[in-house]
Amino acid sequence: MPKPNPASLPRHIAIIMDGNGRWAEQQGKPRIMGHRAGVESVQDIVRASRELGIGVLTLYAFSTENWKRPPLEVQALMGLLKAFLESELATMVHNNVSLRCLGQKDRIPPEVRKVMERVIRETAGNSGLILNLALSYGGRNEITQAAQAIARECRDGLLRPEAIDQAVLEQHLYTAGLPDPDLLIRTGGETRLSNFLLWQASYAELYFTETLWPDFRKQDLLHAILDFQKRQRRFGKTGEQAKQSSSH
Ligand code: FPP
Repeated sequence: MPKPNPASLPRHIAIIMDGNGRWAEQQGKPRIMGHRAGVESVQDIVRASRELGIGVLTLYAFSTENWKRPPLEVQALMGLLKAFLESELATMVHNNVSLRCLGQKDRIPPEVRKVMERVIRETAGNSGLILNLALSYGGRNEITQAAQAIARECRDGLLRPEAIDQAVLEQHLYTAGLPDPDLLIRTGGETRLSNFLLWQASYAELYFTETLWPDFRKQDLLHAILDFQKRQRRFGKTGEQAKQSSSH
């Protein structure tokens, strides 16, 4: 397989990791075995992103809607997350990876939140890959929270309503200060956004694959990046204009 061009890598890759349940069902195993196998894909994709020199990787690990799943599955997923964070801390420190969390932190069970906050704290100074875990995350919820925070600032006289622009809104999102995703991947065959990064994904190139998340590994990521590099990103301009601005 050809190698991606290092000069035009996506700066930020976001992934909807779908298909764990079906992967397990196909093998006659309980769904949680699919999530467990999914953790191995997470490890592989984090390693590959770091090696490639990707700036930001955002993984949709648990949505605001996922709380509606059977309590045993929610509990098992939280257990996997905790175990992942505990076992990966040393590797993240060693590999210069910095962990962040996007989502409703207060809904995360305290024993998971504690480990997560420790990993965030201990990796905060790292300057390599930024790994965002979207946990209890929902795009509409994120935008609503931003609107509330902005309204409070206006009420308190810290901000004039006329001064609210896109940059102000962005500063109130979980992703404040990070580049928008250039490439958004969804595994597992569905072709929807499912409330993921609704604001940030406005201009993302979307890549859908039938591959189920536990089968998605480095080669599949390279494939998605190569596909991304073949596309022309126009940001509303004509093809000719886009060619001129990207050659500058
Ligand atoms: C979707 O598959 C996947 C999830 C809801 C959870 C993703 C979690 C992991 C990959 C493991 C834990 C994460 C980390 C970062 C360690 P699904 O269950 O909806 O699959 P289905 O559509 O086939 O039912």
